[in-house]
Amino acid sequence: MGEIVRLQKYIAMCGAASRRGAEELISDGRVTVNGKKISEQGVKVEIGADSVMLDGKLIKPSGKMYYIMLNKPTGYVSTVKDQFERPTVVDLIDTEIKERIFPVGRLDYDTEGLLLMTNDGDFTYKVTHPKHEIDKTYIAVLKGGISIKGLAQLRSGVRLDDGFVTSPAEVEMLDAQNGHTTIKITIHEGKNRQVRRMFEAVGSKVKELQRISIGTVELGNLPLGRWRHLTSHEVSYLKNL
Ligand code: URA
Repeated sequence: MGEIVRLQKYIAMCGAASRRGAEELISDGRVTVNGKKISEQGVKVEIGADSVMLDGKLIKPSGKMYYIMLNKPTGYVSTVKDQFERPTVVDLIDTEIKERIFPVGRLDYDTEGLLLMTNDGDFTYKVTHPKHEIDKTYIAVLKGGISIKGLAQLRSGVRLDDGFVTSPAEVEMLDAQNGHTTIKITIHEGKNRQVRRMFEAVGSKVKELQRISIGTVELGNLPLGRWRHLTSHEVSYLKNL
């Protein structure tokens, strides 16, 4: 008998989506098991015995997993396909693996920097799950300055426009000249546009934003718009969070 797993995990193991993405595929009615459409969550399947189809195509757990980092430029969306036909981060992957990988979490259209991509849905689940509180470090260039009080508020936690109160952030002023201020900020939460909204909460405007690290995995000197495979050390660090 093969291993029995939940359907969303099976879909993730096939590299067809992240676990959360797989839940959506199921509720959208795009998945069948042994010919029967499944739209509720929680169904279990046996690997090697049950036949799972996505959009009418048989999917099977794939052998080879890819783990890469991209230095995302601004002007690209962090999805596989954009409803407005804007360029996506997948367009920047210039080999056949582009057919199979998807972004691990998101960077805004107007943010650049370190974005992980993989076809391992379990890896995505792990790295993006809030319980792991993985540190993400950004360089923010502000239009204008920031007050000492604003810096102190970011360090203790600020209330965002939707009422969410952020955890204390590590904040370091790197530079202030010609009407711009450069700040290094580390947070471990991942609310939508969180860094921009944190600065807005203390009266500052982010002009440029770049992510430079996720945990101990650093962007380093990877050129803008280029990607590389993660090292086995980086993969095992992220898998063992
Ligand atoms: N915070 C933001 O405001 N934008 C990002 O893309 C990432 C974090």
